[in-house]
Amino acid sequence: MKKITRLLLIGALAVTAACGGGGSGGSGGGGGGGDGKIVMGFSQVGAESGWRTANTKSIQEAAKEAGIELKFSDAQQKQENQIKAIRSFIQQKVDVIAFSPVVESGWDPVLREAKNAGIPVILTDRAVDSTDTSLYRTFLGSDFVEEGRKAARWLVEEFKDDPGPVNIVELQGTTGSAPANDRKAGFEEVIASEPKFKIVASQSGDFTRAKGKEVMEAFLKSTPDIDVLYAHNDDMGLGAIEAIEGAGKVPGKDIKIITIDAVRDGMQALADGKINFIVECSPLLGPQLMDLAKKIVAGEEVPARVVTEETTFTQEQAREVLPSRPY
Ligand code: AHR
Repeated sequence: MKKITRLLLIGALAVTAACGGGGSGGSGGGGGGGDGKIVMGFSQVGAESGWRTANTKSIQEAAKEAGIELKFSDAQQKQENQIKAIRSFIQQKVDVIAFSPVVESGWDPVLREAKNAGIPVILTDRAVDSTDTSLYRTFLGSDFVEEGRKAARWLVEEFKDDPGPVNIVELQGTTGSAPANDRKAGFEEVIASEPKFKIVASQSGDFTRAKGKEVMEAFLKSTPDIDVLYAHNDDMGLGAIEAIEGAGKVPGKDIKIITIDAVRDGMQALADGKINFIVECSPLLGPQLMDLAKKIVAGEEVPARVVTEETTFTQEQAREVLPSRPY
């Protein structure tokens, strides 16, 4: 009798394990505790900026709110860590994989592995440059090219009565990342028609405050007569402000500063007159990401591209909205 009971128990466990397998279009519950919850594997870029911290918080809170089990992995700004995390999510048979690719290129093989395993992938925040769009289901995030254009349009207006030359230094984001490539492209597209604007130095500050400061210090030594700093995010701009002040110059006056993101510290510097203009890039992608994941796992159609709504801020506008800024 005891032997029969044992055999029945083993049989029951085998069935439970088989039902626990993931795959797209199912009713959820793959790879997780078998409690019917959708399981999402999420590979985050890292914790390089205030934006990223706010983005992680938004995703973790939204998953909780939506009843989605989140397997979160921090790649520390390394593509190989993201690839490892995605492979591990595939092995765990999660229901859906979402990730914010640190760089644009080199994703096809691992995305193909996810597709072959029947696990849908959502790109969030940053895009990949793959020509095979069947490798992911949707891309949720900002229009980075437009952000670059907005930054440049403000510059053109601000310097409309200045005969030039207007010397610009640029702090680029992480080399090879979508926001660095696109924010540069959008900015250059707008200033191209006005020869008085010259980008006299341009280098990556890797989206961090420390690197922004270091690179700005080098710009200040090597490049005379800097009129404008265009930083691809607030954190690099904030690091650069320390370098500018260290060199005895007044940020926002001697050197006009444009940044992207609009996180609290950036907005405070804008309200204080140290930054002149910020283009918003919203990190609050969590709720939309969870909605998309639920629809995809339920087998519903979703748009191939979901663009985040964003605005821009002048110094006066920053003073108005700062008290209620959520991040
Ligand atoms: O991909 C979004 C960018 O990444 C943000 O602008 C930047 O702050 C972050 O590190």
